[in-house]
Amino acid sequence: MSDKEGERDSGTDLDPEGYYDEFGAAEWERLDRDPVTRMEFENTTDYLAEYLPDAPDAEERSVRILDAGGAAGRYACWLAEGGYDVTLVDLSAAQVAIAREKAAERGVAERVTAERGDVRDLRFADDTFDAVCCLGGPLSHVVDDDERATAMAELRRVAVPEAPVFVSVIGRLAMLRDIVTFGLDDSHGLLAPIARDGDYTAERVAEHADGEGWAECHGFRVDEFERELEAAGFAVEKLVGLENVASRTKCELAEADDEAVESVREVVRTLREDRTAVDCSEHMLAVCRVE
Ligand SMILES: C[S@@+](CC[C@H](N)C(=O)[O-])C[C@H]1O[C@@H](n2cnc3c(N)ncnc32)[C@H](O)[C@@H]1O
Repeated sequence: MSDKEGERDSGTDLDPEGYYDEFGAAEWERLDRDPVTRMEFENTTDYLAEYLPDAPDAEERSVRILDAGGAAGRYACWLAEGGYDVTLVDLSAAQVAIAREKAAERGVAERVTAERGDVRDLRFADDTFDAVCCLGGPLSHVVDDDERATAMAELRRVAVPEAPVFVSVIGRLAMLRDIVTFGLDDSHGLLAPIARDGDYTAERVAEHADGEGWAECHGFRVDEFERELEAAGFAVEKLVGLENVASRTKCELAEADDEAVESVREVVRTLREDRTAVDCSEHMLAVCRVE
């Protein structure tokens, strides 16, 4: 599912922690693996660059950013290289260990603190961070609606008033497309329930896909995503389809020449704030403000 087709694992109960522990260093590679994942990264960092407060000069106080569900630290390292002080938390201890290694390799260890943590119960005081990121789908792995509302409230609680908060999640329509493309023979029974409520659960996978599956997740529709964020007290300033029309085209783009890939990148940039394109995207980003 999502970026993980061909890497499915039947050995877990589809819990995200076990999945990402096993996924290991492949998670670091994820955002630089092919033209489509690079679009996810480039489009996300465009909005981070636009909406983050300026990085401090030497004499100014540091700007603190939380990277919740930060995994192996791709964004944390990018932010630290830009002069921010980053605290990364992730459910997976293996990902946290990789994030520490990567920050050290890239010479930004003093700007990155990485620790095991759960976005549903953040161990930080209110108003701790000048900006908050929760990117690449951590909130999609919180399948229970009430727990997801708690997680969103946590992201808001730890951010200072007016802070920018960047959240990206997995799109439901792209999940369905994934099953149609890669799992039609053995998983088509998942289509109707996921279309209805977005939930890809161990129970459903056991019933409709012989228990073979990815980590449990919730796929969002764009209206629902916006509604949940607003209910948590965020003003949603932008919704962005990070891959939009290029969603699930990894195989096609791998065969394409550089000029063709560049044309696709351009059209994805052009359409990225089109609401229909957001709804079709593998990952949708919300740029929010704490009200
Ligand atoms: C696809 S990765 C995205 C990582 C990274 N932010 C990125 O954009 O590449 C999702 C991450 O969310 C983490 N995660 C899932 N549920 C979480 C939770 N409740 N609290 C913290 N992290 C969680 C997983 O362990 C995994 O590392």
